[in-house]
Amino acid sequence: MVVLVSGSGTNLQALLDATADPSYGAAVVAVGADRVGIEGLARAERAGVPTFVERLNDHPSRALWDEAVAARIAAYEPDLVVLAGFMKILGAPTLEAFPVLNTHPALLPAFPGAHGVRDALAYGAKITGCTVMLADAGVDTGPIIAQEAVRVLDGDDEARLHERIKSVERGLLVDTVGRMAREGWTVTGRHVRIGG
Ligand code: GRF
Repeated sequence: MVVLVSGSGTNLQALLDATADPSYGAAVVAVGADRVGIEGLARAERAGVPTFVERLNDHPSRALWDEAVAARIAAYEPDLVVLAGFMKILGAPTLEAFPVLNTHPALLPAFPGAHGVRDALAYGAKITGCTVMLADAGVDTGPIIAQEAVRVLDGDDEARLHERIKSVERGLLVDTVGRMAREGWTVTGRHVRIGG
């Protein structure tokens, strides 16, 4: 898989750790980012995984950035692209060439977008969680693959709740990617099924 990141990369780290065991069934062949100087890239470098960066502002248009990202990914011939805290919407060049999996810190379809944790807190939700889904052209609208719930506790702020969600999210992402790699998957409309 190629993993794309924009931040601290703890989900990436969980994948890197899992792939150290050959029986996991998948490997990270490259890590890409839309910005420099992030811990996610440093994690890849420490693991000896090739990295690349395509910054939107370095391209004359979003369409050309999309083409550049897709070409960078294609160079590694992955079977899967994983967005692990990648904070940009990918366009058709990548979405049409590869299956793309995304992870989101809320129980979709509730609280999509860049502030899923903040929005769930502000709404007063008592249960939120995380969702692993296929990416499509929308914002967190793709078919859901797996979800887990996390309780909102009295006194939670965004940072504390997000950390609790991320500790569940990392396990869900690792488990889901591994099962998809080992067992394959089918998509029928909005329904994703892993294995035969
Ligand atoms: C995750 O909660 C992801 O769902 C969200 O940003 C967080 C990324 O965390 N979009 P990390 O960079 O993997 O630590």
